[in-house]
Amino acid sequence: MFRDEHEINYLCGERKILLRTNKKTQNNMLEIKSLTKSFQSGSGEKRVILDGLDLTVEEGESVAIVGPSGSGKTTLLNMLGALDQPDSGDVQLDGESVFNKNEKELAAFRNQSIGFVFQQHHLLPQLTLLENVLLPVIAEKKQADEPAKNRAEQLTEKLGINALLLQKPGQLSGGECQRTAVARALINQPKILLADEPTGALDQHSSDQLADLLLQLNKEQKTSLIVVTHSMNLASKMDKIYQLKEGKLQLNKV
Ligand SMILES: Nc1ncnc2c1ncn2[C@@H]1O[C@H](COP(=O)(O)OP(=O)(O)O)[C@@H](O)[C@H]1O
Ligand SMILES: [Mg+2]
Repeated sequence: MFRDEHEINYLCGERKILLRTNKKTQNNMLEIKSLTKSFQSGSGEKRVILDGLDLTVEEGESVAIVGPSGSGKTTLLNMLGALDQPDSGDVQLDGESVFNKNEKELAAFRNQSIGFVFQQHHLLPQLTLLENVLLPVIAEKKQADEPAKNRAEQLTEKLGINALLLQKPGQLSGGECQRTAVARALINQPKILLADEPTGALDQHSSDQLADLLLQLNKEQKTSLIVVTHSMNLASKMDKIYQLKEGKLQLNKV
């Protein structure tokens, strides 16, 4: 799966040592380099939100990003999902820059490679749970094929919502809606799942349940997981915790 793989032979005394190198560092799913973003404040003055931020996330790794409200967590996730452009710097997903694409390529790339879960689930109220889960497939292929339907069945079963497939969001609890949003985010088997305060609107029990399910799916499907959260309970379950501070990420826990 690694592109541009080349081999370098070194002669070292009598022994020949073979080194393999990859252009993309092996197993790095996401590489963020020197990411910078500023916004104009109400009074017209420039505020730097992300200030040369670097981050590497490995394939299958789970990462929490914590930080006070207004520190730029959502701004960062939006850049990772190419929902917004940085002032400078780059985001590479599986060795590919997310910003070197036209609108059409970007929409397809986002749909195929990135799963999003937001604080509010953003389900469509007129569609059933199953139709909501299949929406990213329908958006691309016009209708859901058999493999997609099978994946929807497996995911909803794992998430414990398979008895509710024909219910509409208005007939579901907050936790059930959020689990539906997770199934929707994973239906196209993305390389990375981005979750912005996914448990923020849930009670403690539903929040714990969702956190465990996210981790279980992350490990089973090898999808890299980046979760922005205020909950130290959720953050502490991740492989690494980074704090967003003064526009940069500091590693708090490995
Ligand atoms: N589109 C925008 N225009 C101007 N300011 C923005 C915009 N988006 C975010 N901001 C500002 O950037 C800062 C970081 O916002 P945000 O990323 O939403 O923080 P967090 O998610 O950590 O609470 C906030 O001060 C916010 O007001
Ligand atoms: Mg936010």
